[in-house]
Amino acid sequence: MPVKTSTTREIPNNVSAPRHVAIIMDGNGRWAKERYLPRVLGHRRGLKAVRKSVEFCYQNNIEFLTLFAFSSENWRRPLEEVSFLLALFQKSLEEEVTKLDENNVRFKMIGDRSKFSKKLQDLIQESERVTHDNTGLTLTVAANYGGRWDIVNATNQAILNGHLEISEDVLSQFLQLNFAPEPDLLIRTGGEVRISNFVIWDLVYTELCFTDVLWPDFDEKCFYDALNRYSERERRFGRAGTEHEISPKEIINS
Ligand code: FPP
Repeated sequence: MPVKTSTTREIPNNVSAPRHVAIIMDGNGRWAKERYLPRVLGHRRGLKAVRKSVEFCYQNNIEFLTLFAFSSENWRRPLEEVSFLLALFQKSLEEEVTKLDENNVRFKMIGDRSKFSKKLQDLIQESERVTHDNTGLTLTVAANYGGRWDIVNATNQAILNGHLEISEDVLSQFLQLNFAPEPDLLIRTGGEVRISNFVIWDLVYTELCFTDVLWPDFDEKCFYDALNRYSERERRFGRAGTEHEISPKEIINS
């Protein structure tokens, strides 16, 4: 199956099970607050839920998992929290990439990495290099990522590469998720019902699943629930629903 097709240009073939799941991992702070713990401990517990979700995906043949770990607007948080999140990202790469590699997981990062320390940038690059040829799950972490930044960046890259006119095809080559199919399912935990500048270009025909479960509590059962909700959706991609009984031709002739 080709990796990248466009849902606005062609209808994907088999969408009964999601190939690509994207997750906005929200609710770490509230999880900690409910327990009278500092917010950062919610993020630490959030990392455990990340591990569970990665395992779930490779056990359930989901090909792509994309996680929103740090948005371009998250720099607005207190400095200690930002530092903790970046340190947690660095530590998890240092400690987990070997295990990801052993499990045939390909690691990718999307977002503007130029704002990170040289050490973190090198670690990201090395993690991508080591796991590059793996053929199992592609795990993508969005860090310092913003959907609008992605589109503007892709446009600038297209211009720098000599494209004088922007089309869907041209732009999608330069977008951060150019290696992945558009997400079939977006899960957002934590009860908020918004996209928050996530992969806005790629989400146009994604099925959205919002849950009140706070991210550290998101487990295998919650993931199955989301997949069940997905399986009940009729993905029409702009077509009429299958339930209509009278054809337009019949109405015109009546
Ligand atoms: C949103 O919850 C969560 C984040 C901004 C950070 C997500 C990070 C992790 C799950 C851990 C690290 C992950 C990786 C991939 C290394 P929030 O803090 O906004 O929660 P709140 O809405 O309850 O305050």
